[in-house]
Amino acid sequence: MNRFWVESIGRISKTDEENELSRILISGTGLFTPPDSVTNAELVVSLSAANETWNAKHRVEIERGDLEERDMPSEKFIERASGIGHRFLMDKEGVLDPTRLRPRLPLRGEDELSLQAEICIIAAQEALAQAGRQGSEVDAVIVGCSNLQRAYPAIAIEVQQALGAGGFAYDMNVACSSATFAIQNAVDALRGGSARCVLVLNPEITSGHNNFELREFHFIFGDACTAVVLESDENANHGESWEVLGTRLATQYSNNIRNDAGYLNRCEDGERDPFELVFRQNGRRVYKEVCPMVAEHIRVHLGEVGVSVESLKRLWLHQANLGMNRFISKKLLGREPRPDEAPVILDEYGNTSSAGSIIAFHLRRKGLSEGDHAVLCSFGAGYSIGSVILRKWAD
Ligand code: COA
Repeated sequence: MNRFWVESIGRISKTDEENELSRILISGTGLFTPPDSVTNAELVVSLSAANETWNAKHRVEIERGDLEERDMPSEKFIERASGIGHRFLMDKEGVLDPTRLRPRLPLRGEDELSLQAEICIIAAQEALAQAGRQGSEVDAVIVGCSNLQRAYPAIAIEVQQALGAGGFAYDMNVACSSATFAIQNAVDALRGGSARCVLVLNPEITSGHNNFELREFHFIFGDACTAVVLESDENANHGESWEVLGTRLATQYSNNIRNDAGYLNRCEDGERDPFELVFRQNGRRVYKEVCPMVAEHIRVHLGEVGVSVESLKRLWLHQANLGMNRFISKKLLGREPRPDEAPVILDEYGNTSSAGSIIAFHLRRKGLSEGDHAVLCSFGAGYSIGSVILRKWAD
């Protein structure tokens, strides 16, 4: 017997009993990795050349004390301070051109697929294949990411159409926590009965908001897109899947990570520093303030769902800084994490914003058995923290 019935357009109702019985599963994940691979050494060479030119051009102002000379970046610093060694970008040539220092992305026409929709579809296809689903079986698409390439129509609706999905679709932005916040929305939709199969997508073209002109920021980000399929177990195809035991979100206002790009910029009266319209942060303060909050957030969440810290087999953490992840894991576990317990992908991918923890989950989940517990956790601008506690449901 079909356990669902349509009450009105797009709304599926379940009895209270069915709500209690249904488990929400992650049944597939996907990843789009851009083809352009960029090392720290390449970024250092291009920014050094750009800084030399800038310093020469502003020699008089620098000597007068009106401007500060731009210091040279160093590979050693990047590796030591962040753990990032490499990243993938949508366009390497534009970023490494010292006279440009930003990706070159050809303008697309209105009848062409947008860039974010395109990378969403690639990641979605992998996730859907893993879940054993067709695009037409999806009835909610949520695109969550740090930056959307246009205000409207929603990228998610474009993806919905391209995949032949039904139901509804929308975009949302909670910066680096967009994936975990979107997963909670997906879980709520599945539990509440407004969807049966939800696709969460995180198209992070972070090279568009990164400041490649300043050494404090030029190495931080990488591009990627992730996809997650969520459905309830009575619908799932019972391949490899992960039960969502709980989601927990928290926010606390902070200006320590900020990007003022927005639709009101063109109306603003007054001068802005152009660097305010791209990513900027006080990294040291973020590091200090966010790490203890995250460790405590996960500890409380585990307690709420009745999972002990000792039984945790894996921590798929947001991938911004190696030291941060070590600190959080150590504080939570009460000891140094083993390398496979808190997998690191930021050495290869850089900070891919909301995609980071999902990439870690996608690439580093082998070796866990049915019944094993793990946590997926993101944190970033807002501040925002999102955790998803998972139990391996099926192999
Ligand atoms: N090469 C060489 N030197 C560099 C450099 C580079 N690429 N970038 C910065 N420096 C310099 C700074 O200018 C500063 O020099 P100064 O002492 O002469 O002023 C010095 O190195 C220390 O800079 P600081 O920014 O204090 O370094 P840090 O140890 O805090 O590391 C981050 C910087 C960004 C790696 C680190 O703070 C971080 O990752 N924080 C967390 C960020 C985060 O999670 N954000 C979430 C966003 S998603």
